Amino acid sequence: MSSGPTPGRGLGRDDLDIVDPDSYADGFPHATFQRLRDEAPVSWWPEHDGGKGFWAVTRYEDLLYVSQHVELFSSAQGITLEEIEGEDFHLRRNMLEYDPPEHTRYRRLVSKPFSRREVYGYEDGIRQLARDVVIDAQGLGDRFDYVDRVAKQLPMKMLGRLLGVPDSDGDWLVEQGDALLGNLDPEMTKHPVGLTDTDEFKHIPFRSPAALELYRYAEHQAELRRGCPMDDVITKLLSPTIDGECLTELQFKNLFVLMVSAGNDTTRYTMAGGIKALAEHPEQFAEVRQACIDGDAQVVERAVEEVLRWTSVTMHFRRTATQDVELNGQQIKQGDKVVVWFSSADYDDRQFADPYTFDIHRWPNDHVAFNLRSPHLCLGAQLARMELKVLFEELLPRITSVEIDGPIERLRSNFICGMKRLPVRVTWA
Ligand code: HEM
Repeated sequence: MSSGPTPGRGLGRDDLDIVDPDSYADGFPHATFQRLRDEAPVSWWPEHDGGKGFWAVTRYEDLLYVSQHVELFSSAQGITLEEIEGEDFHLRRNMLEYDPPEHTRYRRLVSKPFSRREVYGYEDGIRQLARDVVIDAQGLGDRFDYVDRVAKQLPMKMLGRLLGVPDSDGDWLVEQGDALLGNLDPEMTKHPVGLTDTDEFKHIPFRSPAALELYRYAEHQAELRRGCPMDDVITKLLSPTIDGECLTELQFKNLFVLMVSAGNDTTRYTMAGGIKALAEHPEQFAEVRQACIDGDAQVVERAVEEVLRWTSVTMHFRRTATQDVELNGQQIKQGDKVVVWFSSADYDDRQFADPYTFDIHRWPNDHVAFNLRSPHLCLGAQLARMELKVLFEELLPRITSVEIDGPIERLRSNFICGMKRLPVRVTWA
């Protein structure tokens, strides 16, 4: 085990504006959030684009409190900083944006194909895809961009197989997913929010025309299955439960858009963060590699959990206060936006010993990368874990070393912490 930077030293500036996407240009601004956790755990932030401002919740315990008290902190008025109301919001709402009891009902309709049991059934298919991607990367030689050639290739292919859409649509779906979650980054979309006028798209998810394309695609996929059910997740999602309940067409389309965005980039960026962490900790790379060779699943699974904590790629989600409420000494007013910072909570030294130390043996490791202790716990958590584990198992035995081989480029975002380019140099076994 080797140490990372010491808190307060080597973590960068501690006074950055957490609203500004450019504050994340060099990665998550740890020093700034460390200071907030220590000095102002619940702090008020004005917004520059006409937004009404928000409370930033940065400590682990407070994040759990907000996530679990859905009667005080609602998701039903939006889960990003963007403020959108009325019919526009109603049309684009996805399952993240419901409160119980509607959310509970919605979740019951869609959760089965993503349960741990079902996901085990996908393992062979996932492994084959991972193997193919690794073999393709091997054909590139010792130096390549890990994001482009490995991490970007897998999640959408894997999700696409489960959903039952043609492999050949994978690249197009990745492009649309990128435009959604990268909606602040001019490299990812022609319509970056905040840099161009996106008012005409305010009624669609992420204020992005890519969502319209995905709506059309989802409609077409649903149509294909209507008279002719297939053995895939889309068919399962469209089928009524034993109680005869079923998703509406709009709910299905919004869920499809959510899966293509949430199920694609998040896993990609976690994969990239995982190999970067191992490249920076060669002794832990060697240990996980040996565990993959020996079939020691526990070591690999714990390494995956630490990668999830360490990368914590969805930096925040928002709630809205349903009444006046006090949180850690701050008086929050009904209607205020309350933003919980997962990437901050995952480095809270009140919860994690030596949080800036990457430690594949960390256990227990109750990170909040999936917000597992909230009603909105990530639907794709088991799938993402399986993808991350299988990729390690297929890749690591085939390489004896990995190092970072050039400048890293990051997504311009205050929402998703991701690398767009991660040049690596590997030694093939
Ligand atoms: C490493 C990868 C992933 C990370 C870090 C991640 C993170 C998260 C987080 C933090 C939430 C909770 C949001 C909240 O509290 O409001 C969430 C919810 C969700 N995630 Fe993921 N996710 C990942 C992969 C996936 C995948 C592969 C899928 C594909 C199906 C997916 C689909 C969803 C959905 C549908 C929800 C909404 C659940 C609900 O509202 O009940 N995610 N995710």
